[in-house]
Amino acid sequence: MRIGLLGFGTVGQGVYELTGPRPDMQVAWVLCRRPLSLPDAKVTHDFNDILLDPTVDTVVEAIGGLHPAREYVLAAIQAGKNVVTANKALVATFYDELLPLTQEQGTLLRCTASVGGGIGWLSELERVRRIETVEQVGGIVNGTCNYILDAMTRRSLSYEEALAQTQALGYAEADPTTDVDGIDTWHKLIVSANIAFGVSLDISAIPAAGIRRIRGEDVARFRARGYTCKLICQAAREGAAFHAFVQPTLFPQGVPEATVPDNYNLITLVGSTSGRQSFLGQGAGRYPTAYNVVQDCVDFLNGRGFYCRYGPKVRVTNDKALCYYVRGGDWPRERTRENWDGAAVTEPVPIFQMHRWLKENPEAFIAALPG
Ligand code: HSE
Repeated sequence: MRIGLLGFGTVGQGVYELTGPRPDMQVAWVLCRRPLSLPDAKVTHDFNDILLDPTVDTVVEAIGGLHPAREYVLAAIQAGKNVVTANKALVATFYDELLPLTQEQGTLLRCTASVGGGIGWLSELERVRRIETVEQVGGIVNGTCNYILDAMTRRSLSYEEALAQTQALGYAEADPTTDVDGIDTWHKLIVSANIAFGVSLDISAIPAAGIRRIRGEDVARFRARGYTCKLICQAAREGAAFHAFVQPTLFPQGVPEATVPDNYNLITLVGSTSGRQSFLGQGAGRYPTAYNVVQDCVDFLNGRGFYCRYGPKVRVTNDKALCYYVRGGDWPRERTRENWDGAAVTEPVPIFQMHRWLKENPEAFIAALPG
């Protein structure tokens, strides 16, 4: 395999290092904007050098962001090259474009590192689907948010201190608002759910609430009541439609989600016959992410492409009702069930309604109570 590697940041460098000693694959080109000299690969700032090199059979996209990643990946697929990407924003946003084109061209596409970093989560979903129906997927999929929430809970760090640490450790996205506003988790949910259910979810109906507004006082209230707050995503079948959402959620101490430390992810599926299965591992960082990129390259050598066929567009309803912790904003007193030292705990509210209210009250922080 001769690889054209797009990007030489955290992930790209990891891929270069992990492929270096392998006899079955070689990074032939690296696309990089800054000056760089490598012993075993040619370096270019012009993508066409890679696209037009007929000896390059595989493109590894590790530049992130939507553009020019989309244009490079589409051009590579059209040129008959197989593509590995770790870019969850790209796959989630352009799923309806990438999947049909890949099928039409008969090229291979994989994105295992895009969800769960070093966990083989998407590969496992593919295996599960061979013999059963996936009923539900979700969990903790953003290492940055988990690190922040864990540091605030166990080490009493401020939100700002914890966020700065995730940036120094290379976990956060280039723009960390993508992490803390739940957008990265939203992308990972879309990719996971589309693959798990073999559909294309209506992404305009999937809400995301993040952790940007959480304060030490919220964490103290949760701790006093035996809860730990985590940012979770969930998607589940609901008749012919689906529930799918991202929101901070409280877990009682002792359940697996409550104990997930640092940048780790815990992702769970519920299968129709196997039941509940959870996967714990590092969800961010150079080597865990590069590990799954290289795994995808090995899968290509074995002829394995995308995890499922492109499926139908489906509706998202989110009409299930949950109780929420709400601090800040203008939550109506008559819909409040309890008061936690100045913060409200609501009566059951449909998920879509609570997210609509949050849009009108962006200064508020919400967390769902266990359903
Ligand atoms: N910023 C992401 C995270 C990187 O913290 O999980 C891995 O996708």
